[in-house]
Amino acid sequence: MSGSFELIRPLAGANFGGLLRATGAVGAAAVVRAAEAEPAALPQALAECGGLLLLPGMEEMAEAPELLLRLSRLFGPEVENYRETGMAPNMVHATVPEIFLVSNTPPALRQPPPMPDPPLTADGRLPVQFPHRRGWHTDQSYRRPPPDVSLFLAVIPVPQGQGQTLFADASAAYAALSPTMKARIEGLEGLHISSGAGRKRDAVLAGGTPRVLAPHERPQRQPLVRVHPVTGRRALYMCEYGQMDWLEGPIAGMEPGPHGEGGALLEALMAHATRPEFVYVHEWTRGDLVVWDNRCTVHAATWFDAARERRLMWRTTVSGNPGAAYAGERKSWIAAE
Ligand SMILES: [Fe+2]
Repeated sequence: MSGSFELIRPLAGANFGGLLRATGAVGAAAVVRAAEAEPAALPQALAECGGLLLLPGMEEMAEAPELLLRLSRLFGPEVENYRETGMAPNMVHATVPEIFLVSNTPPALRQPPPMPDPPLTADGRLPVQFPHRRGWHTDQSYRRPPPDVSLFLAVIPVPQGQGQTLFADASAAYAALSPTMKARIEGLEGLHISSGAGRKRDAVLAGGTPRVLAPHERPQRQPLVRVHPVTGRRALYMCEYGQMDWLEGPIAGMEPGPHGEGGALLEALMAHATRPEFVYVHEWTRGDLVVWDNRCTVHAATWFDAARERRLMWRTTVSGNPGAAYAGERKSWIAAE
């Protein structure tokens, strides 16, 4: 790339993603200034490398959160305020409501996902593929319009070898589908819902009476094949067990439930999309900032030893360019007047 940035792609060990370095700037404040001077550079880099960018060396942002907000603003029209998205108050930064806390320490107190069973693959590697690896999702897909881009800063990461974040290239996964499968899924919609609504697969399998949902908690339909508004590329847009409606869905208009035809299709697509050749494993270093495009990637957290380790990560989300399928829509999570 030209100008003040150098893009090295793909990311190490993966077939997509890029490492972005500012050629003449050191430290977050200088990098943010350089990015603001060339406002198209970072969004363009994100689009060029399949929706995943790593910017190392941003640890200064932890002391100056405004730098993270300024960088976030380059990726779209609106940096979301989590006090307005129905997020639990303990998960939101006390003084910067655009920052969502992902942490096992107070006040967020979120525990990591369990270790996969078995912990390693047959050839001794970190499991990445669904369903051995669980928890694959795209951020807040239970809202319409959903957010475009997430930025994730390692304020206090855990030691490497645990607490990784996995990313899968959902555009490459779509492109690799057979023509028959592409034709089968074109026009289908997934039913996405927050894990707290009691409709994740495990909850539905456990039975019981489904609870009545408030209007803002209702499942939201999202295209299973999403056309990226910037690149025009098609990508699979889906989550798996925890963030789809396994009672009425997960695929609208198909036999519902954990044993239905819709579930079988979704599981097959997720197992395909998370094949190791589509996945990047990020081992975190303090100050790493990873930017991903929720419109064309899925990601998953991994286990870490929460009894021994503290982890604090900051996330922002940027919205406002979801594509033509959402044109003119009001925000589904805000109650009608
Ligand atoms: Fe996420």
